[in-house]
Amino acid sequence: MFRAAGARDVLELGAGHGRDALFFAREGFTVQATDFSPVGLEQLRDVACSQGVDERVATAVHDVREPLALPDASVDAVFAHMLLCMALSTKELHALVGEVRRVLRPGGTFVYTVRHTGDAHYGAGTAHGDDIYEHGGFAVHFFGRDLVDALADGWTLNEVHADGTGLLCVTLLLRLRARIADAAAGTVVHVIATDPAAPLDLPADARPTRPDAPWHPAATGR
Ligand SMILES: C[S@@+](CC[C@H](N)C(=O)[O-])C[C@H]1O[C@@H](n2cnc3c(N)ncnc32)[C@H](O)[C@@H]1O
Repeated sequence: MFRAAGARDVLELGAGHGRDALFFAREGFTVQATDFSPVGLEQLRDVACSQGVDERVATAVHDVREPLALPDASVDAVFAHMLLCMALSTKELHALVGEVRRVLRPGGTFVYTVRHTGDAHYGAGTAHGDDIYEHGGFAVHFFGRDLVDALADGWTLNEVHADGTGLLCVTLLLRLRARIADAAAGTVVHVIATDPAAPLDLPADARPTRPDAPWHPAATGR
């Protein structure tokens, strides 16, 4: 999407350990990765060096509740995966999106992902108001379509994609496991994910195989 829009540099907000920032750098983009936690950014820099993309990656500790430390119209694209749905109030979100707009060059692109009100955890746990719920010690701002539209006021909203069911990965895995329970050993199951984040959320060792399948640890004695 960024390449199609002619972007060459990307600002990432809430980059964490930099999985996506590193991907962008490997794809040839110049990346500024920010997060309010320096821990992940340190790891990001180490991995960028080991992957030989450190010249294209800069990091900065930044709290998105503060104005961005960048000049007006200075970046082609802004990316934020699961940052806007942190414990940020609607007022803070509007200020943040205003800052994104300020630093984007005319015609620039902003891509973000969030948890939404169709999510299985929406409404669970402690309500903090403003559609923020704390569950398992983790506060999440769940986005409804009205909030998406309000934040997009004055923007061109190209695409809004809501994953259809709001199911959590573990639920999807259990459903998949049930679907293949009667499959013959050796059956190959192709899982096609339309949510680009979904494969990343699956644990690397996720193998919804039958215990008697020849490649299952229980069968091989591993
Ligand atoms: C759910 S994680 C997503 C991390 C990364 N984008 C990913 O997809 O792996 C949210 C990230 O936002 C960061 N974060 C939370 N609140 C923030 C704030 N106010 N300012 C900047 N970063 C923040 C956290 O430190 C964390 O790295």
